[in-house]
Amino acid sequence: MLTSLLISTLALCLVVSANAIVARDNMIRVPFSKRVNMTRPGLVLKQDQARARAIRSREPQKSAKRLLKKAIGSVPVQNQAVQYVANVGIGTPATTYSLIIDTGSSNTWVGAGKAFVQTTTSVQTSNLVCADYSAGTFGGTEFTDTFSLGDGLAIKAQSFGVASFSQGFEGVDGILGLGPVDLTIGTLATGSASAPVVVNEEIPTVTDNLFSQGVISSHEVSISFEPATSLAGTNGELTFGGTDSSKFTGSITFAPITSISPSNEFWGINQSVRYGTSTNILTTTAGIVDAGMTLILLATDAFLRYEAATGGVLDEATGLLRVTPAQFNTLQSLFFNINGVQFELTANAQAWPRSLNSAIGGNSNSVYLIVNDLGSPSGEGLDFINGFAFLERFYTVLDTANQRVGFANTPFTHATTN
Ligand SMILES: *[C@@H]1O[C@H](CO)[C@@H](O)[C@H](O)[C@H]1NC(C)=O
Ligand SMILES: *[C@@H]1O[C@H](CO)[C@@H](O)[C@H](O)[C@H]1NC(C)=O
Repeated sequence: MLTSLLISTLALCLVVSANAIVARDNMIRVPFSKRVNMTRPGLVLKQDQARARAIRSREPQKSAKRLLKKAIGSVPVQNQAVQYVANVGIGTPATTYSLIIDTGSSNTWVGAGKAFVQTTTSVQTSNLVCADYSAGTFGGTEFTDTFSLGDGLAIKAQSFGVASFSQGFEGVDGILGLGPVDLTIGTLATGSASAPVVVNEEIPTVTDNLFSQGVISSHEVSISFEPATSLAGTNGELTFGGTDSSKFTGSITFAPITSISPSNEFWGINQSVRYGTSTNILTTTAGIVDAGMTLILLATDAFLRYEAATGGVLDEATGLLRVTPAQFNTLQSLFFNINGVQFELTANAQAWPRSLNSAIGGNSNSVYLIVNDLGSPSGEGLDFINGFAFLERFYTVLDTANQRVGFANTPFTHATTN
């Protein structure tokens, strides 16, 4: 009891400061880092499942109205347990804001932490803007301003929100939305907060404006993240406008955006999942790639097959599947078949980083698995979410121009340092 109390009050925060931003070859490289804030055991899974529910039941128009009317000071939401954060400069001279990288939403906004600093390039529009996330909400006014992401390279008149209220984003300044632009529809409104009129317009994302303003020559963004070898060793890179060949091995396999709703509104693909040589976990179906998710979630029926195959038991403290060291030694790889190519998630890659076991309320002699239950059966158009546990092992390309998502192995795909 005492131990679990201690663990539940344990706040572990990891902040790796970002390096300088570099631009070359018409590409912009933005470093990002991982932050872990484990204040409550079991929070990682709860947040991921809440996010999955929000994605499944997306109703942007209604949500915008409801949010804009929402009184400040309603029930606070828990902070996110794991965040991936990049530094972005806004204004002239620029103020630097730490923004959560999110590929499952497309609005960019600031003001959760540091207050927005207006400069001569800041222009307030007459619009309101808001967004709803499973782990928080934000609402505020729309501004346009100069964004700096690279060596003197800037986006002019980038639209973004300045929060009048936000919940659930302590420790960061806001969000850098890297999802498809259609997710911004319904987030913009005119009128007053008490009587908002939703504007049926898209808000071009940072990636969209980099491309339309000619700063980058390919309309895509790539994500590289190295899994933690130690807490301080984590680091990632966003590459706007291309792929960074130093970050992946072999070739990139592309899969078209799936036609199945609601996955098709996100970075959604078709995929099947197999355990070992022959155990089917999930037959080819639609789901999404989501950097806002920590774990890999599978539809309940698929998760139950995975649970049976691994011999793992659900651990109450962490919410994750727990296997013994002996079971872990015989754990097979999971194979993700994406457009005919197998991506191997090794046993090691299926384990929660052991150095963080105690932070999630686990014990150091057990192994906890990062594959878990989506909370809904397969066949509903969102049957898996490949979260960061997947992105840490496979280089990922979000290709707006060709409406496809690419994956490649990295030097860390088969690493055993987890
Ligand atoms: C970590 O989470 C706690 C509780 O939710 C919060 O009070 C604190 O500000 C967070 N710290 C950071 C650095 O995000
Ligand atoms: C994905 O799977 C669905 C359902 O099996 C199928 O209709 C569709 O053609 C597949 N491919 C794409 C790109 O959506």
